[in-house]
Amino acid sequence: MQILGTVEELRQWSRAHRCDRANGAGMALVPTMGALHAGHASLIRAASEARPGRVAVSIFVNPTQFGPNEDFARYPRTFSADCALAEREGASVIFAPSVEEMYPAGAATVVDVEALSDRLDGASRPGHFRGVATVVAKLLIAAEPDLAFFGQKDAAQVAVLRRMVVDLRLDTKIVVCPIVREPDGLALSSRNVYLNAAERKQALVLSRAIDCVQKLVASGERRSVTLIEAARTVFAEQPAVRVDYIELVDWATLWPVLSATQGTLFAVAAWVGATRLIDNTVIG
Ligand code: PAF
Repeated sequence: MQILGTVEELRQWSRAHRCDRANGAGMALVPTMGALHAGHASLIRAASEARPGRVAVSIFVNPTQFGPNEDFARYPRTFSADCALAEREGASVIFAPSVEEMYPAGAATVVDVEALSDRLDGASRPGHFRGVATVVAKLLIAAEPDLAFFGQKDAAQVAVLRRMVVDLRLDTKIVVCPIVREPDGLALSSRNVYLNAAERKQALVLSRAIDCVQKLVASGERRSVTLIEAARTVFAEQPAVRVDYIELVDWATLWPVLSATQGTLFAVAAWVGATRLIDNTVIG
């Protein structure tokens, strides 16, 4: 498996491998920040099933999507293990650029998906989605994949990127893979490594809240206030965990809805100690 460090190398590799895209060849891109876990493995596997031998995995801890007091410096970096996992799951190439490569001196261009950028995680992490959209736009422009794979766990990010791809007329389909969970329900996240043993237990309140809402919906409840209140009651059982948001939104616009319908997104974010975790379910 090759490791590429420059945008030009990625561009050349992609051009050589996505031969005859018009006839359905194409290539797949799996953008990541490394610290790969079974959730990422599922994305790479899905990508390599769709585009065998033509899968690029990017590993880049993108500084512009971290706020000044966030965990950029201590974000887990596990490059060798990441390469081994990616290769096992069928990646053909790793793209691991430097910060200077992605943001050349004097870089002044950003991609801001207005109206979505300050919703959900964007409300408590100002600038986060601008950083995500900017770096993913750079990756998509360089690699021109016909498929790009993302996890449903970052559901608001998915909404932002879907909007961006439509608005910029990029010729890439965003493929969303299901959330992968630990056996006890905790959604996999690179940030789970920050949790100590007590916090690891407390963190289960997020998936319990999701579970509770799924059961209510299955029993016929659709009202937003009732679903949100039920989730709030679950969170109240674990006072050590501080809720950031509990929202029922249209997955395309991220705006609140009064009742759940097919495809509505129910999403939560909460602080477990110093670690902010997110989880969600898509209704139906
Ligand atoms: O989901 C992530 O890991 C990141 O936000 C992404 C999409 C790789 C952009 O840095």
